[in-house]
Amino acid sequence: MSKTALITGATSGIGYELAKRFAEEGYNLILVARSLENLKETASDIKNSAGLVNIHLIVIDLFEKDAATTIYSKTKELGLTVNVLVNNAGQGEWGLFTNTALAREVDIIQLNIISLVSLTKYYLKEMVERKEGKILLLASSISKVPSPYMAIYAATKSFVLTFAEGIAEEVNGTGVTITAIQPDATDTDFFHKAKAENSVVYREKSLFDPKDVAVAAYVGLMNNEHVVVPGISNKIQKAMNTLIPDTTIAVNMEKQMKPSQKTEGRTAPSHPASHRERRSINEQNNQNHGDYILAPATKN
Ligand SMILES: NC(=O)c1ccc[n+]([C@@H]2O[C@H](COP(=O)([O-])OP(=O)(O)OC[C@H]3O[C@@H](n4cnc5c(N)ncnc54)[C@H](OP(=O)(O)O)[C@@H]3O)[C@@H](O)[C@H]2O)c1
Repeated sequence: MSKTALITGATSGIGYELAKRFAEEGYNLILVARSLENLKETASDIKNSAGLVNIHLIVIDLFEKDAATTIYSKTKELGLTVNVLVNNAGQGEWGLFTNTALAREVDIIQLNIISLVSLTKYYLKEMVERKEGKILLLASSISKVPSPYMAIYAATKSFVLTFAEGIAEEVNGTGVTITAIQPDATDTDFFHKAKAENSVVYREKSLFDPKDVAVAAYVGLMNNEHVVVPGISNKIQKAMNTLIPDTTIAVNMEKQMKPSQKTEGRTAPSHPASHRERRSINEQNNQNHGDYILAPATKN
């Protein structure tokens, strides 16, 4: 019988590419994001490329306190077993901490940490009881790096990495595995949502392709790796950071994260699904989505 992967943030960027990959490998999917329209388009793309897979869509806002509980209850009601949980949905906010809005940062902590921990708690317990299952968590190259202009985001990603490494050891030998991935800056809608499009890193630097990140994540997950660091430059930087004092890293990061002085450079993602995501996100960010819809994509 086919296994099922539940992927949060599946409509854009890394999550979209992971959803496609899991479908190509024969998994059924439960796709989670805030936009029903984007979820339907994602499901349609996947059916076109991967053929017959069973896809359920959950429209929910993981900024909401009870979102993880609602997702878990819905999968129970439908009798779905989650064999792989991909905690991918995450956001950041760019700007000096003295200027950014506290409410937005609390939302980001809710999404990046509380919802992620809650989903992990619910599904990991069942996986350990079944002696089978895998969980992937999206950390970041800045999980271990102090990041001016994105201090809250970097701190949430530190949490994700430490949390993942801790529970990976706890479940060692149970048949369940935990994998964290630390991608470097990747060409998705992330920077747009974070209002970081004018940062040096986004405007001026080369970015990873979300498809390559998804491939590295999938392979690392299947090989039961605890931590995946995609890309040679990323691996080298990670190794160098262990030798450099944090204060120096923070100074270097400030140069990457500060506003760019260049008038030319990248202004939008080249990844098609991330570009589509960008169209809808402004209105999504300003709506309260306490409601959800869950339906097999075959009906849409
Ligand atoms: N891009 C990078 O440079 C980078 C680097 C390292 C790690 N990461 C991490 O990789 C993960 C994926 O990011 P990405 O770069 O692929 O970003 P992205 O293109 O912005 O995709 C984010 C996905 O999460 C969903 N999402 C966002 N807020 C949500 C919410 N409140 N509730 C439910 N779903 C939500 C989005 O759909 P809706 O907005 O329609 O809900 C979308 O499907 C994140 O955890 C990010 O922190 C990214």
